[in-house]
Amino acid sequence: MKTAVAVLVLAAVFDAAVGNTGVTFTNNAYLDENMNVFLQWRRDESTVTMQLEVQTRGMVAIGFSPNGNMPASDIFAGYVGDDGQPYFHDYYAEAQEHPVYDGDSNQNYFDVLATENDTHTIVCFTRNIVMCNSDDRTIINGTNRVIWAYHADDPTSPRSLLYHGATNRGSRSLHILYPRTEPALPADVQTLELLNQNYTVPNTSDTTYLCRGYKVPDLGGKRHLIRWEPVIQPGNEGAVHHVVVYSCGVEPDPDTHDGGEYTCYSNMPGEWYHCSITLLAWAIGGSSFDMPENAGISVGDTNDPRFLMVETHYDNPELRSDIVDSSGLRLYLTATLRENEVGNLQVGADVSQYHKIPPGSASHTTVAHCYSECLQQGMEDISAPALNVFAVFGHAHLAGRKVNIRHVRGASELQELFRDDNYDFNYQETISLDEQRQLLPGDSILMECTYDTTDRNGVTYGGLKTEDEMCIAWILYYPKMELAKCESWPMSYWYLYSLSATATEFSVAENDFVATAPANVAGLTADQILASDITWTDELRADFQRAETQAQRFERCVNKNNDLVHGNGTRPVPPVIEFPWVAADECAGADAVTASMVANMLLVALGFVLITVM
Ligand SMILES: *[C@@H]1O[C@H](CO)[C@@H](O)[C@H](O)[C@H]1NC(C)=O
Ligand SMILES: *[C@@H]1O[C@H](CO)[C@@H](O)[C@H](O)[C@H]1NC(C)=O
Ligand SMILES: *[C@@H]1O[C@H](CO)[C@@H](O)[C@H](O)[C@H]1NC(C)=O
Ligand SMILES: *[C@@H]1O[C@H](CO)[C@@H](O)[C@H](O)[C@H]1NC(C)=O
Ligand SMILES: *[C@@H]1O[C@H](CO)[C@@H](O)[C@H](O)[C@H]1NC(C)=O
Repeated sequence: MKTAVAVLVLAAVFDAAVGNTGVTFTNNAYLDENMNVFLQWRRDESTVTMQLEVQTRGMVAIGFSPNGNMPASDIFAGYVGDDGQPYFHDYYAEAQEHPVYDGDSNQNYFDVLATENDTHTIVCFTRNIVMCNSDDRTIINGTNRVIWAYHADDPTSPRSLLYHGATNRGSRSLHILYPRTEPALPADVQTLELLNQNYTVPNTSDTTYLCRGYKVPDLGGKRHLIRWEPVIQPGNEGAVHHVVVYSCGVEPDPDTHDGGEYTCYSNMPGEWYHCSITLLAWAIGGSSFDMPENAGISVGDTNDPRFLMVETHYDNPELRSDIVDSSGLRLYLTATLRENEVGNLQVGADVSQYHKIPPGSASHTTVAHCYSECLQQGMEDISAPALNVFAVFGHAHLAGRKVNIRHVRGASELQELFRDDNYDFNYQETISLDEQRQLLPGDSILMECTYDTTDRNGVTYGGLKTEDEMCIAWILYYPKMELAKCESWPMSYWYLYSLSATATEFSVAENDFVATAPANVAGLTADQILASDITWTDELRADFQRAETQAQRFERCVNKNNDLVHGNGTRPVPPVIEFPWVAADECAGADAVTASMVANMLLVALGFVLITVM
């Protein structure tokens, strides 16, 4: 939209010392480990309002990036000039270079307020969540990569921003679109803190995963966990990156292991590897998490976990030696039990060699079905007419790029339960859904994880180590079923045929299929053939991809003791979804969006100083 009258950035000086923006922020995060760049925000229906406070009197910038790098980023940058006036503009980056000033008719940041004091520049703006312009980026439901930069000096003009140099810049993964409610707590609430104890973060690695064991104390009987919140040691807000609480399939002895402290998946005791059921997870930028008002997670009852493993991820890019930390999570429990028990259903691919990802693939998608018969049996066993899903935690490892949890009803697909097109292993969190979703008898769940293995030479298998992979989601819902896992994976005879076998059979000894012909592969499993020096072609990779959708499957439809809930563990090829979900085009009315934004800007102009640049 070209206008003769340039509608430019609106800015007004506000008194940040008293935080007088009239906005109540719900979330905040330091974007850097040294705590120079502080971001606060709140999400409204279709907009996000952000306030950025940077320890500089020069230029500041924040951007929305596809991957943490500058190219294709949507950037908001500016400064408070020597004349005391703020100059802030919308830019986009075409490359790792000075961003392009986005045309005057295309300023997508509105209600801009800015000021500086002796030490800080503070800027507040509102932007739309959905952007319908190729130079601007939509804030997505999944992981957003936010980039930031600053400089000690003001540039001479908005068209010549100053280079931030190698250190005054960075990127942070953030979940921005949190739905937030903070219901009042009951009077009998009791807290349980899972905190680290003066842990010295190693100065030898930029990323440390600390695993600490906790014995669940005697709580005086069954309680419902209804809220958790982060407890971050003041001063360490920039370094404590995420915290995940796991319960264990087979529990280590709680007394022996209470207070144990190890580097996760490196020097930790073998028994701790059973602690892989994600119960709760917080990540930087997140605040508290509340259960629905009619449901709680059972804690302290006879069959509830008596031992928890808490994983804390620390960021220490400058390899500092002085980070000593006692952060963690605080759980809120009540003896006033709620109507519903929360269940934690694991869906996805089996964490084993059965999960195979070919090397050298820019985009391989693992597909894992939770079959409708399994889910339906789980509901029938507790006579539940429906399940109410309110949060999810999707999980892959280092090669994971996308995580998608699809929801199928009959021949049609409904809107996905959750989708993250920008998955970041180093940023994991339980995500509340915008609205609760119902799973009905006959529904099925399809989990998809997309991986990039271009830098790998051999097959990547499912496993617990970060260089292994996972494609798993934990779905928080109520009422709780006995069903604990609903997983499936392709039968490996498919891979054997891809790898030149002409006949196969199931071998009980190998607990896997083996080739029976031709002679050079007879007796071998797919994994044994894959361990030899095979040549990976695009054709072979494509065939591994086809296995995900076309092979007959094994199923794990079990309760927490691994007893079958339904079937015998084998399933046919899953049905093709006749009517896949098609998201509505949120930009179909893009002109109207632009017009209303301009109107908004004009209205604001009446109340604030209008600065015309150029
Ligand atoms: C300047 O602003 C920063 C960020 O809001 C604040 O922390 C600091 O206290 C302010 N300094 C003065 C002198 O008001
Ligand atoms: C986020 O998810 C909700 C529903 O779960 C959907 O209505 C909304 O359009 C999504 N927002 C974006 C920006 O994709
Ligand atoms: C950590 O160390 C400080 C200072 O030595 C001490 O006051 C504090 O109690 C310790 N905290 C924990 C959780 O051990
Ligand atoms: C790193 O930490 C170790 C042990 O805490 C300490 O002895 C050493 O001096 C530190 N190294 C540096 C470069 O600060
Ligand atoms: C397992 O159940 C399926 C039906 O779901 C059936 O076709 C198959 O023969 C059964 N397999 C065994 C080994 O019982």
